[in-house]
Amino acid sequence: MDKIGFIGYGSIGEMIVNGFISSNKIKPSDMIVSTRKIDKLDELKIKYPEIEIVANKKLLTNKCSKIFLMVNTNELINVLEEIKSDLSLDAHIIYTSAGIGIEQLETIFSGKITHIIPTLTGKVAKGVNLISHNKKVDNQDVNFINNTFKSLGQTKIIPEKDMALATIITSCFPAFVAFFCKKFAEQAVLDGNFSQKEVDEMIKATLEGTSLLLLKMDFDDVISRIATKKGITEAGLKIMDEKLPELLKELFGVTSH
Ligand SMILES: NC(=O)c1ccc[n+]([C@@H]2O[C@H](COP(=O)([O-])OP(=O)(O)OC[C@H]3O[C@@H](n4cnc5c(N)ncnc54)[C@H](OP(=O)(O)O)[C@@H]3O)[C@@H](O)[C@H]2O)c1
Repeated sequence: MDKIGFIGYGSIGEMIVNGFISSNKIKPSDMIVSTRKIDKLDELKIKYPEIEIVANKKLLTNKCSKIFLMVNTNELINVLEEIKSDLSLDAHIIYTSAGIGIEQLETIFSGKITHIIPTLTGKVAKGVNLISHNKKVDNQDVNFINNTFKSLGQTKIIPEKDMALATIITSCFPAFVAFFCKKFAEQAVLDGNFSQKEVDEMIKATLEGTSLLLLKMDFDDVISRIATKKGITEAGLKIMDEKLPELLKELFGVTSH
């Protein structure tokens, strides 16, 4: 009962398992990992032979009191139903699914539950991991979560009722930024003589610089220092100001439920 279990090894599972190991937060020998297509874990096993890999979730549940569920959202309830009879009284379920509240899981499992919304930027140990605990989670569990997730960026404890909105800000946002950059690059290629590769490189380097600048300056400071009166940036910002609010209202509308 002293190992830590991880179920689901996709984008988030892979980031969390590898992030905890490379930051020395959890030793590979203390981990048991399971996922649906088990051969996905071959590479992990080669890299860390001490890791225990199991296809049968019951084997994992019997040996672990802390279990991370990182399966697709539409599979979360099925997986919890599948393992619930093997969970110990003091088991701690930690799940990452967006759009499923703790109270929904409490109808299936009445013990300790933590909801975490990680962000892909955790791959570079940046960004914000959103955390919400139910009342059963004790101080020791909270410390475990804070300590392990520090390896994947910042941690922020918030009420479960605010999770949906915060998810858009911290977890969806990197995809929105990447999409904007992609469309921006496509238009730049259409308008001139640069190759896609050249434009992508220029945008990525500029994005890195902008991110670092924004850690030192407010949004408005950056904007005003670039957009000189009657200049081209000002003309571009005017278009954005006219069109973006409507788009963002719609975007928050479709993502917040
Ligand atoms: N991606 C993000 O940036 C992000 C951020 C915050 C939260 N989340 C949440 O994290 C969860 C996982 O997201 P993801 O992006 O990592 O998805 P993903 O890349 O599709 O990975 C999901 C993993 O779960 C496995 N799985 C599905 N059903 C299973 C089952 N019944 N038993 C065992 N393993 C099962 C899948 O196996 P197969 O490979 O066989 O399909 C896959 O390896 C989602 O609920 C999502 O809302 C994601």
